[in-house]
Amino acid sequence: MRVSGKSYRTIWIGDDGRSVDIIDQTKLPHRFVIVTLRTLDDAARAIKTMQVRGAPLIGAAAAYGVCLAVAADASDEGLDRAHDILLATRPTAVNLRWALDEMRSALRNLPREARLAAAYRRAAEIADEDVAANAALGENGAKILRDIAAAKKTERLNVLTHCNAGWLAAVDWGTALAPVYKAHESGLPIHVWVDETRPRNQGMSLTAWELGQHGVPHTVIADNVGGHLMQHGMIDVVIVGTDRTTARGDVCNKIGTYLKALAAKDNNVPFYVALPSPSIDWTLQDGIRDIPIEERGGEELSRISGRLPDGSVVEIDIAPEGSPMANYAFDVTPAHLVSGLITERGVCAASADGLRGLFPDRARKE
Ligand code: MRU
Repeated sequence: MRVSGKSYRTIWIGDDGRSVDIIDQTKLPHRFVIVTLRTLDDAARAIKTMQVRGAPLIGAAAAYGVCLAVAADASDEGLDRAHDILLATRPTAVNLRWALDEMRSALRNLPREARLAAAYRRAAEIADEDVAANAALGENGAKILRDIAAAKKTERLNVLTHCNAGWLAAVDWGTALAPVYKAHESGLPIHVWVDETRPRNQGMSLTAWELGQHGVPHTVIADNVGGHLMQHGMIDVVIVGTDRTTARGDVCNKIGTYLKALAAKDNNVPFYVALPSPSIDWTLQDGIRDIPIEERGGEELSRISGRLPDGSVVEIDIAPEGSPMANYAFDVTPAHLVSGLITERGVCAASADGLRGLFPDRARKE
């Protein structure tokens, strides 16, 4: 997608053909900074500190992290170490485990000397597959948006989204925002309500920024506004992404998603989840019971960063000294609150049958 008119992905191979370049998302929206990863530890740190974040991008970054690890140590022990270090970076997005498993099965039966080239090859495929899946689900979702707009005969379609599930969260296109970009490109008048998404503000600092770069009309709102807008007919559809969706369609996504789904149900607003298939965890059914929910440091809640009039970016504390903070990063929306899952293979019900129908080759036999 474009930044100041120039096309970017969120992750790519550096000029030396070995290192890996990323957009440092902790610096947005005030600075556009490209960071070069040269080692396994660089890659692990980038994921943990959320220089790269968003489920599909975490997976791609982990795949490239394995490449950097293999460049230093192509032994079986080296592969296992890279797998374990990268897997420990963030617990919730299943794309991380998926990508690491893909890399391990692509490499483990090869002789050492063949592993490096194979690692870069498979990581590039993982990145390209993500782009293709998101482009395809974008078309599938754009059709839903056009149908809703046609049925409502509204002047412009109002979409609510939560967190950042745009191109910055993936390798390109994004998940929840891919349908928005595709619909916008096809000429549908569209406007996005962007939840600020406390505590890290991915909506405010990333979603609003990338929509602005693409000229998609949008408005940032505080996290608690969505219900009010729905009661007043100001939201036609909600689309969010997911970090892990279970085989029966329970959807784990950024904290606060569940409350939007409840409000959507109460107001008859369709609530869709857009996901490439590596975001499905075929091993789990009950998302509330079984998906590990990341708990992050309290300072993400008590400290906020912003730009001063002189252009400098500073962090300030906003909490009373000594108050304990709890920072749960994700929640689970049960399948019955989800109107449909938008995938690269089509749209299905958020249910075991729905997912099995689209992915008979992946669904586990119980
Ligand atoms: O903590 P983050 O910023 O990695 O969380 C990201 C989200 O919750 C996204 O909505 C999710 O990864 C879907 S992404 C395309």
